[in-house]
Amino acid sequence: MDYAKNILETIGNTPLVKMNALTEELPCLVLAKYETFNPGNSVKDRMALTMIEDAEADGRLKPGGTIIEGTSGNTGMGLALAAIVKGYKCIFVMADKQSKEKIDMLKAVGAEVIVCPTDVEPTDPRSYYSVSKRLGEETPNSWYVNQYDNLSNTKAHYQSTGPEIWKQTEGKITHFVVGVGTGGTISGVGKYLKEQNPDVKVWGVDTYGSVFKKYHETGVFDENEIYPYVTEGIGEDILPKNVDFDIIDGFTKVTDKDAAVYTQLLAKKEGMFLGNSAGAAIKGVLQLKEHFTKDDVVVVLFHDHGSRYVGKMFNDDWMKKMGYIE
Ligand SMILES: Cc1ncc(COP(=O)(O)O)c(C=O)c1O
Repeated sequence: MDYAKNILETIGNTPLVKMNALTEELPCLVLAKYETFNPGNSVKDRMALTMIEDAEADGRLKPGGTIIEGTSGNTGMGLALAAIVKGYKCIFVMADKQSKEKIDMLKAVGAEVIVCPTDVEPTDPRSYYSVSKRLGEETPNSWYVNQYDNLSNTKAHYQSTGPEIWKQTEGKITHFVVGVGTGGTISGVGKYLKEQNPDVKVWGVDTYGSVFKKYHETGVFDENEIYPYVTEGIGEDILPKNVDFDIIDGFTKVTDKDAAVYTQLLAKKEGMFLGNSAGAAIKGVLQLKEHFTKDDVVVVLFHDHGSRYVGKMFNDDWMKKMGYIE
């Protein structure tokens, strides 16, 4: 019989799928690393499990312990699945701009969820960074995951996502394009791919309202770049340790409107029902058109599933209210 011993064994080995209608204008082959096939419907299952296993191995996470994290939803889902199989409790802290579906989904897998205001400084005691850190200090037998600075996040992608992409493209990949939040995906995959072939170009997709692009280009952390934005999952107002700026060749910024519109187009033109950062990522690929030639093999990674956005990017009333569609 061929079966996984538990749900965690189904993480990884996701398909690579050719993009067709949406990338017609590009000269090259564009392949999507389709991470919604993971059991928690996102790429984050990979790093959640690695972060837990590393914390178990060095004693930061002890039997019966409580896992505490600030999460926009996907990391929480991955952590919650692993916590169920391994017998831990979870408390997650989220920003109130996240979709209600994401909050309800974390509750569905047994987590306690605390919602914090989005529109405050990271150092403000009400921010989701501060609240999760404080809970980590106050809760007995707890472990604060900190996906931003926890380097097991990058390691997970170096050990699994990167090698999978290399093998699936038979080493023919020339460009890797991906949205950047904590930086774990781009840094881990990028490091692995560049070790195999230093000519592989690694591009990050950023949002307007985030510090990454300017910091990468100038070395300046410019607070004037920071303002609230709608796109979920990518861009930051901090510099996470998991963003390895040295392995990133460049960033392109995608507007909230384009990210939302392309999230809809992925579903309507490719049959790819994916999350908002996938819309940003494919628009990012199109914006980078001039960097691609006929023989290139571009891999774009899609982080999560469309079901988490039915109240927003897949709701035409919301899209109209935001001024994204007529
Ligand atoms: C939907 C979504 N897209 C993109 C990202 C960015 O991935 P990473 O944190 O590995 O940079 C995340 C992670 O926060 C996410 O949840």
